[in-house]
Formats: sequence, C-alpha cells, structure tokens
Amino acid sequence: MQFNFPKKLLLGAASAATQIEGGKVDGNWHDWYRKGKIADNSNPEITTMHWKYWKEDSLLLKEAGVQTYRMGLDWARIYPRENEVDYEAVWQYRNEILLIKEQGIKPLLTLHHFSNPMWFERMGGFLNTKALIYFLNYVKFAAETFGDLVEDFVTVNEPNVYTFKGYGEGSWPPGCKNPFKIIKVLENLAYCHIESYKIIHETRKKMGFLNTKVGFANHLRVFDPKNEKNPFDKMAARLSEYTFQEIVTRAFTLGEFCFPLRNKYKIEKGVYVDFHGVNYYSRTVNFMGVRKNSPRNDLNWEIYPKGLIRCAEKLDEIKRLPIWVTENGTCDNNDAFRCRFIAEHLKAICESDLPFERYYHWCFCDNFEWADGCSMRFGLIHLNYETQARTVKRSAEFYKKIIKAGSITKELWNEYVEPQKYNIK
Ligand code: BGC
Repeated sequence: MQFNFPKKLLLGAASAATQIEGGKVDGNWHDWYRKGKIADNSNPEITTMHWKYWKEDSLLLKEAGVQTYRMGLDWARIYPRENEVDYEAVWQYRNEILLIKEQGIKPLLTLHHFSNPMWFERMGGFLNTKALIYFLNYVKFAAETFGDLVEDFVTVNEPNVYTFKGYGEGSWPPGCKNPFKIIKVLENLAYCHIESYKIIHETRKKMGFLNTKVGFANHLRVFDPKNEKNPFDKMAARLSEYTFQEIVTRAFTLGEFCFPLRNKYKIEKGVYVDFHGVNYYSRTVNFMGVRKNSPRNDLNWEIYPKGLIRCAEKLDEIKRLPIWVTENGTCDNNDAFRCRFIAEHLKAICESDLPFERYYHWCFCDNFEWADGCSMRFGLIHLNYETQARTVKRSAEFYKKIIKAGSITKELWNEYVEPQKYNIK
C-alpha cells in the first residue's frame, strides 16, 4: 500500500492576508472585531503577526518542504485610502514574494479573500456597481506591480461563502440578511472576476509573459440527501447545490448566468479560468445538516475525503481544465487527526484520473479563523499567540516527509496515519 502522487502535482500550503498578518489596517474585519462580532474576541490586529515575522515565516515554509505557497494581498493595506497607494506595503509584499521564490517555492497570489478596505465598504462594497472600478484598479495595479514575479493568480476567494455569510446569514461583515443582495453581489463579483482575468492576462502579456494562470477559489461541498429515498431530502440537497455552487461555478468559469443570476454586464460566454480552483472541506446533508455517525473535526464538520473527488468530477463535467485544490484542511486543535486527514485526501487524489495539478493545505499556520477567532486551529505550524512562538506540528513533519518522498509510503502511513482516529458523532 503506497500512494504515489501524480507527476504533475505540486504540493503546498495556503494562507490569507487578514488571517495571518496582524497590524493596524482599516479593513472590514478589523471593524467587525471592534463591533464585538468575533466569537472568542480575537483581534485581527494581533493574530500571527506575520506582517512583522514575514521573513521567519518564509524560512519556515522552506523548512516545511512545500513546493508552492498560496498567499494573499490585503487590498486595504495597499490602498489605505481610495486613491492612495502605500508603497512601503507594496515593497514588503514584493520582498516577501522574492524571498519565497529564492527558496524555490512557487507563489500563487490571491487578490481578494473576504477583506475590503473600509472606504470601499462604506461605498456599499460589491453591492455598489459604481464602486467596482476601484476593485478593478487595484487588480490592475497588483498585476503591474507583482506580475513580473508571479505567474499564478486567484482573483476572488469563495464568492459563495463571502456572499452567503455577509449578505444572507449576516454573521460576517457587512452583516446583511437579504437574499436579493446575495444575488446582486454575486453578479458583481462574477463581473469583477472576469474583468480581472482579462486584466491580469493582458498586463502580463505586455510584459512578455505568456504563461499566466488565473482562476478563482471556488468553495465546493457535497450536498447529499439525509435520506436517499426521501424526495424532499433529495430536492433539498439538489437545490442547495444549485444555488450555493452550480450558478457560481457557471457564471465565474464560463460567463453563463443561470437563474436567479442575470447577465447584467452582457458578458460573452467563454472560458474565464485557466484552472478549476477548489476549496474543499466537507459535506452537508439537505440544507445545513451534518450526517449522523460521521467523522467530525473540531468545528463539527464532517470529514469526507471522497467528496473532494465528487466535487472535482462535477467541475470536470462542466469543463475539462487542470484542477488546483486551492484549499483543503481541517480544524484540529490538538493536531490529533490532521495526518490522517491529509493522507486520506491525498490518497483520493492519487486514486483519481482527474487532472489534479496542485494541492494547497489550509493553513500554513494557525490563524484568525474569521468570526470563530484564533482558537480554532487549522495550521501545520502551531502558534502560541502570547509569545508568537511558532512550532512545527507533527502533521507538518508528516507533510514534509510525503512531499519529499513523492508518495505516501507504507512506512509513513503506518507511523503517522494508522494511530490516528477521528471523532465520530
Ligand atoms: C476560507 C478560509 C478559512 C477556511 C476554514 C475557507 O472557507 O477560504 O479563509 O479559514 O475555509 O474555515
């Protein structure tokens, strides 16, 4: 029993600017914290202080043995005011990317990961059609400024999660509870993604680069009926899948706007991604349920490795493109089952015929888990938030070894995976 990684597969880790950087930024999540909306009252100004420790962290990435790193830019840091760039921040990001590259690690750059500058949020954010130009200006600036260093870009992270939590559930900024707004924001985000796709390609082409890869990170989950035989359950699962992800996938990937999304900007059908970016974590039953007697992580999400392949198969049916797992990981506060989680998801990839090319484990280090705060740990590297000490977890050690071996060998499986068990609930 040995699982060899596909030849083309690069293995890496991911992070997002607001979740790790810390420091004073006038952004929507800093504002959300000030409004008292973070479960454990964690302050995004502190979190892992990566903005201060970026050099140490870049060296840690090398030590963790990753081949590629998905990192984010914070728009609010680059544009603290609507027409004003902070060149010191830009310079630091460039130096960080350079250092990562010097160590032989390939960067993948995310431009938008749930965070907006407050000046943009006050204009109405992605609800305001007239404000979208500010986002596109930032994308152009980022492509011009980092395009000589970076080939691969993620435009927008998880448009469905961003809109559902921020405009439907209201548990994330800006805290709206209005399904009509979800639709409008999704339409505007799809337009922004497609324009960004064109801008990044054009900008890098002018620089003489033809190897640009652009996509978005699509949050996909499996929706299954609670009871396979119950027509109501089947309908609930199908409806969830359609509204939460299928319309998003089609609009962003192909410029195909299905009900209830409208093609307001008269976008031509086409292919607006160079890869399918998949963020995969879990399965849902019916609308928001969790399967009984299933393995669970510390946030009570089901652990279901086969679901990664089921989601990727759906994308492949829509359009054959390379598949990049832009995020996959789990909340495991004691690092008690992360090795098993990694091994089982990678095993599923090894056994599949689909064109998987990247796997980014979420997250490189423990971090600010949005409204759940810093106590929910997803990292390969442990953070002591009081001392800011970083410690390599056993799961990071395992990940490093399998990357080096190019496979999950029988010995590594027996040593790291076999002893670990999930909690069943
Ligand atoms: C997000 C990450 C987040 C992770 C775990 C994804 O939805 O892109 O930012 O930390 O899930 O919740």
